[in-house]
Amino acid sequence: MSQAITLPMQVDRLPGPPGRRRTGPCTLVILGAGGDLTRRKLIPALLHLLGDGLLPKDFSVLGVGRKPLDDDGFREEQRIGDADPALWDRFAQSLVYLAADLDVPDSYAAIAERLEQLEGERGGERGRLFYLALPPSVYAEAIEGLSRSGAMPRRSAGDPRWVRIVIEKPFGSSLATAEALNRVARAAVAEHQIYRIDHYLGKETVQNLLVFRFANAIFEPVWNRHHIHHVQITAAERLGVEHRARYYEEAGVVRDMFQNHLLSLLSLTAMEPPATFRSEAVRNEKAKVLNATRADAAERGQYGAGTLDGERVPGYRDEADVAADSPTPTFAALRCLIDNWRWQGVPFLLRSGKRLPQRMTEIAVQFHAPPHLMFPLERGECVAPNVLVFRVQPDEGLSLCFEVKVPGGGMQIRSARMEFAYADAFGATQHDAYETLLLDCMAGESMLFLRNDATEAAWRVVDPVIQQWEAERPADFPNYPAGTWGPAAADRLITESGAAWRNPGSAEA
Ligand code: NDP
Ligand code: BG6
Repeated sequence: MSQAITLPMQVDRLPGPPGRRRTGPCTLVILGAGGDLTRRKLIPALLHLLGDGLLPKDFSVLGVGRKPLDDDGFREEQRIGDADPALWDRFAQSLVYLAADLDVPDSYAAIAERLEQLEGERGGERGRLFYLALPPSVYAEAIEGLSRSGAMPRRSAGDPRWVRIVIEKPFGSSLATAEALNRVARAAVAEHQIYRIDHYLGKETVQNLLVFRFANAIFEPVWNRHHIHHVQITAAERLGVEHRARYYEEAGVVRDMFQNHLLSLLSLTAMEPPATFRSEAVRNEKAKVLNATRADAAERGQYGAGTLDGERVPGYRDEADVAADSPTPTFAALRCLIDNWRWQGVPFLLRSGKRLPQRMTEIAVQFHAPPHLMFPLERGECVAPNVLVFRVQPDEGLSLCFEVKVPGGGMQIRSARMEFAYADAFGATQHDAYETLLLDCMAGESMLFLRNDATEAAWRVVDPVIQQWEAERPADFPNYPAGTWGPAAADRLITESGAAWRNPGSAEA
């Protein structure tokens, strides 16, 4: 375990935030404005952006929901209790509401009409951003309805009256359904108008992967099978399924976390250097590496009752809206291989689960151990391999573990860690991923969004695992108690690769 010595790294402060691309007047149309995503993520993100002076001057939100509310009712429903009252009042003026059921065809004409009315009142050219904060089963119908009504026309790139659509995850539930949804979206609008969102790509630490890899020259020569033994990507959650069991029972952990978030992290870690920092150049490389990726082995788990921080918590099957014999996995570990020149034979070990002992997302790149050790080691003693860890959340930062001599006589070797913490260098992170992503959509910056080919390539990786698991009901569920690091089978999966999970407190962490 590398605990003893921490060598802080010096960071030269950067002079203020770099200028973001400015965006002109626009209307954000949130479909599903009565839902959890709108309340918990979108409205707070927009309010912060306004507070930071980053929203366009002429900006409005048209919330579309089924509840019969007027504009004031919607504003009250979305009010953030602890917001600065003056800021909230300024923000609330930009909120308007339309009650409409998207299963009713006439609703789309009503949306088009309300949009035109709003735009008429404000005058001048404006962009339109449609945000599907809806259950995935409604996506196709909503896209077709918006297109048919004329509210969401096809536009060429560069048109100042831009029209864009944000499609939330999950994008389909399999390769076939994702392909079908892509066909619907591309029949309605051009690919450059479609923003498939994966909020992990908006996290600062995830974007930093690009900078770390491609703005520093020292790691590139060792970023390959000759030097890297394996890569571990963990997205551990303490939370259980909460109130989302209706969705989760159909999704399970692989659709919920792997098809999007974990494979996005893998693609940024493993992709080739793009030639330019242009959206299409980066997205080409991400798609290429995903197309070369396959799942080689997989293990699944479901949490039973257990103890977290001294508190008893129920098992998954006892949560509201979960079937008493549910086969839905809440944990998975996948060993992925990348069939290309750089990564041949290097296992990428991915795991994610709910009700694990702590919230932790990290990417750990473990290098090979030295090929020959000249040091006289005590019996049973060994040196730890170098590990570079990207801490995505919490405690965002980086660490590099290496071996050092313990001062004094003899030749005692110990692990040390060089640390970089975002909070120390730049102060506490202030903005949520949704803030970055919403601004990017308004500015027409699509680099952090998934292109159709990458989405389909990610489904190609996970589809065989899902199909096999859905064909064979698990006999041993629940197979890990809440508050533990998943089923024993997941440990076997990584041991086969000559490694061990970096659970906090373990020898590897
Ligand atoms: P919710 O179920 O909380 O909200 C969905 C909203 O859509 C509800 O307000 C619902 O209306 C509305 N709706 C459903 N059907 C229709 C319809 N036919 N016409 C009009 N409105 C309709 O879901 P979330 O907000 O949690 O999620 C929305 C999307 O975002 C999902 O795809 C989810 O996977 C994704 N997402 C959510 C995250 C989150 O943190 N919540 C995180 C990442 C992705 P009503 O209230 O009347 O039922
Ligand atoms: C969402 C999943 O996409 O990501 C949730 O649907 C999960 O199940 C969440 O809890 C995790 O996001 P974060 O940003 O909290 O790591």
